[in-house]
Amino acid sequence: MPQETDARLASGYTIKVRAYAKVNLTLDVLGKRPDGYHELESIMQSIGLYDTLEFKNASSGVQIHCSHPEVPADESNLVYKAARALQERFGLAGGAEIRLEKAIPVAAGLAGGSADAAGALVGLNALWGLHLSQRELGEVAAGLGSDVNFCLTGGTALAQGRGERITVLPAAPNFWLVLLKPRFGVSTAEVYRGLDLKAVEPLRPDTVAMLNACVVNDFDAMAAGLRNVLESVTCRLHPELNELKEALLRAGASGALISGSGPTVFGVVPDEEGAGEVAAALMGIKATRYVTSTHRKGVEVERTGGPADRIGQGAG
Ligand code: C5P
Repeated sequence: MPQETDARLASGYTIKVRAYAKVNLTLDVLGKRPDGYHELESIMQSIGLYDTLEFKNASSGVQIHCSHPEVPADESNLVYKAARALQERFGLAGGAEIRLEKAIPVAAGLAGGSADAAGALVGLNALWGLHLSQRELGEVAAGLGSDVNFCLTGGTALAQGRGERITVLPAAPNFWLVLLKPRFGVSTAEVYRGLDLKAVEPLRPDTVAMLNACVVNDFDAMAAGLRNVLESVTCRLHPELNELKEALLRAGASGALISGSGPTVFGVVPDEEGAGEVAAALMGIKATRYVTSTHRKGVEVERTGGPADRIGQGAG
């Protein structure tokens, strides 16, 4: 069978992927669903901040190494769940050793865990020679978390359903972002639990207007249309986030918003120089600053190495 041949050929090889973070340019909640999730409409955008995952074959089992102290390398890790989901669904016998290098902040509203899961699906598809299509990977992704399908696709996209139904959009205007990540994290489940749908009206985005802004490449319209109904909860739980938004605007950002359920606040700037100036003006603020730009992919395979390459050694 060609798949077995490919898997054998791939044994001893390492695969390295980059898994990119996202921000939500709009996030609207249309209602609560019978399954407990919320019906969403969100325009999502990949950004240049990424985690790196390296994969190599093992005879059995899934082992994860992660240097980040707050990321468990056990069965609760979405990378582990992604690997197990592939093994179970396709009856795979082989295992994998996976090294996860975190750069995306954790519990930040940037889909770091979902990006890692998407990276694991792409990396293991290559390592195990599975030849699964984007659609087949998407079916596994939907079972792992609401943002994993977007992370698999990346770029600019409209997410609907509980977030897993993705329509790829023309790339949003290429722009720069200054991200402010406060020390604390936020639980997405807690934010959704606190959502009062009657109170979110003033925060609701015009999704169609944002869609048009992306299509016609209009940075000013994009910056003016940034809205996220989850801010009603996250800013109530953490009022200091309003100050971070205002600080970004005062420093020169054209628009500012909380990403996802937060707590990361991002400001948008048309060019790199402007982003550097905004970040410099915010020196000393009580948050970690990141400067990055939009990105057109969710996951990228950076390198496939020969048998001589070993995780943690060799090139890369
Ligand atoms: O799907 P994911 O595991 O990322 O979602 C985390 C939590 O966020 C869910 O357990 C649920 O409480 C909430 N959620 C929701 N509606 C969505 C997505 C997430 O209520 N569309």
